[in-house]
Amino acid sequence: MVHEWDPSMAPDAEVEAVVDLINATIRADLPADPTWDPVGYREYLTCTMPGERRACWIVADPNADRVLGVASMLLMDDIGVFELMVHPDGRRGGVGSALLLAAARRAADEGIPSLGVEAVGDTPAVPFYEANGFRWAYCEMRNVLDLSTVDWFRLGEMARGISSGYRVEYYRGGPPESLYPAYARAKESVRDDGDGDLDLRPSSYEPERLRASLATLAARGLAVYIVLARHEPTDTVAGLTEVVVPRQRPGRADQYDTIVVPEHRGYGIGRAMKARMLFELRSAEPRLQDVQTWHATEKEPMLKVNAELGFLPDREWREYEADVPDLLKRLGPTAARSR
Ligand SMILES: CC(C)(COP(=O)(O)OP(=O)(O)OC[C@H]1O[C@@H](n2cnc3c(N)ncnc32)[C@H](O)[C@@H]1OP(=O)(O)O)[C@@H](O)C(=O)NCCC(=O)NCCS
Repeated sequence: MVHEWDPSMAPDAEVEAVVDLINATIRADLPADPTWDPVGYREYLTCTMPGERRACWIVADPNADRVLGVASMLLMDDIGVFELMVHPDGRRGGVGSALLLAAARRAADEGIPSLGVEAVGDTPAVPFYEANGFRWAYCEMRNVLDLSTVDWFRLGEMARGISSGYRVEYYRGGPPESLYPAYARAKESVRDDGDGDLDLRPSSYEPERLRASLATLAARGLAVYIVLARHEPTDTVAGLTEVVVPRQRPGRADQYDTIVVPEHRGYGIGRAMKARMLFELRSAEPRLQDVQTWHATEKEPMLKVNAELGFLPDREWREYEADVPDLLKRLGPTAARSR
């Protein structure tokens, strides 16, 4: 019932059926979240960073012209980043487990030792991964800012409230090439090694990786917006904030990294950059309704700024991990035959 699916070759109708399934899942599990548009979804799935590949599987509904389940796995050096959705009408019948088994087998074939997943709190994904022996590795809280609640006058004051000696700049599509080294250095200054997260979405700490990452985001249909703060006396990048809006889901923006280099903290940079970003998004993305961001702990420096901007905590986003041999043992050959 599971078969490998190549979105680059699939007919449009099949891509649309997969997006229908994703939207049925969103309506069941996260009804306040915006749904996805099939236009550009093929590119969203097929374009990856150099050296990475994505494998996908689907389960067709034997009784109807629709897809019952879809899974994808981004094959990285030491981990497979797995995503899975089963249609609400087709759950608890083993479809999810069968797709997980297909991914675990591929990971084993490719010598990848573990699978990592993000599971959204208060959805069936949590009991599903726990029932399959996944370990809870890391947890973040998602925060959402509804743009209709923003006090734009106050935001204007925040955007201007930056110490002298700093200049805020806005770039659509990515920073200029001449700034790549300084930009990557700013990211490197707060490298989060060792805080326990599974690095399922690695940052770019070198100019070459930054270049590849921007090209990949563009190829996947993700519009990139950057605001950065320059320290004028030294002409270095003192801070940056990154937002991405998928053209397949234009109502919601994803806040990626926001960084203030440690020696430049305490000068209002984080607040000014994020406030400026919201003004730029308002004019560049007229269909945008909200922005989502994630934070790991109550101590995270941007938490206070996010609260001032009006972000509200929403739900837990959990990272789980499982060793591939354990998964194969648990889902096993007998289970495989029956599916
Ligand atoms: C999580 C999901 C993939 C499970 O798919 P499924 O086909 O129902 O899973 P299976 O039938 O293979 O379930 C295997 C085991 O997982 C556990 N499980 C799955 N769903 C569960 C639930 N709702 N409650 C408790 N346990 C559950 C059970 O132990 C189950 O075995 P059992 O049915 O014999 O008791 C599916 O519910 C889904 O797509 N959820 C979407 C969640 C999501 O990502 N939402 C956010 C993005 S929109």
